[in-house]
Amino acid sequence: MDHENKDLDLASLVDKVVREHGATPDSVIPILSEINRTLGYIPAGTLPEIRRRIQIPQEGVFLADSHVYSAASFYQMFSLKPLGRHVIRFCESAPCHVEGGRQVIEALQKELGLQPGETSQDQKWSLLTTSCLGVCSVGPVFLVDDDIFGNVTPERVPEILARYE
Ligand code: FES
Repeated sequence: MDHENKDLDLASLVDKVVREHGATPDSVIPILSEINRTLGYIPAGTLPEIRRRIQIPQEGVFLADSHVYSAASFYQMFSLKPLGRHVIRFCESAPCHVEGGRQVIEALQKELGLQPGETSQDQKWSLLTTSCLGVCSVGPVFLVDDDIFGNVTPERVPEILARYE
C-alpha cells in the first residue's frame, strides 16, 4: 500500500469510527479503543484528525492535540506503534515486584531478547509493562494477549512462551 492510499484509508477509518461513536469529547476513548482494536495500534497520524473531527467550536470547547495524545498514551491497553502478533504485558507495580517480579521480567527479557517496550524483528512478540492488573494476590503476573498468568516464576517463563509457537 503506498503512502497516499494508507493516509486515505486511515482518514476513512477515522471518519467511520467518529460517525459511529459521535463527535464529542466524551467519545475520545471509545474512538481510540475501536481504532486500536481494528488496526492493533493507533497510528500517530490519526490523532490530529480525531481531534479535528471532535471540535465543538460553537460551545467554545476545543480539544488540544495533547489531550487526544495523552488519552492515547495514558491508557495502557492502547498502543501508538504497531505491535507483535503476541503482546506480553508485564505488571511492574509494587505488590508483584515484591513477590519476585524483577526476576520474572528478567527471564522474559532474556528469553525474548527484548527490553520492555520493544517488538521482535520477526514481529512475533512485543514486551510491554503495565501497572497493576488487579490480581495482585497471584503476583507476579503477566498477560500474553488476553491470557493471564499468575504466580509466575522465572522457571515457568519458557514453558509459557512455548504455548504461543
Ligand atoms: S500489582 Fe501486579 S496485579 Fe496488582
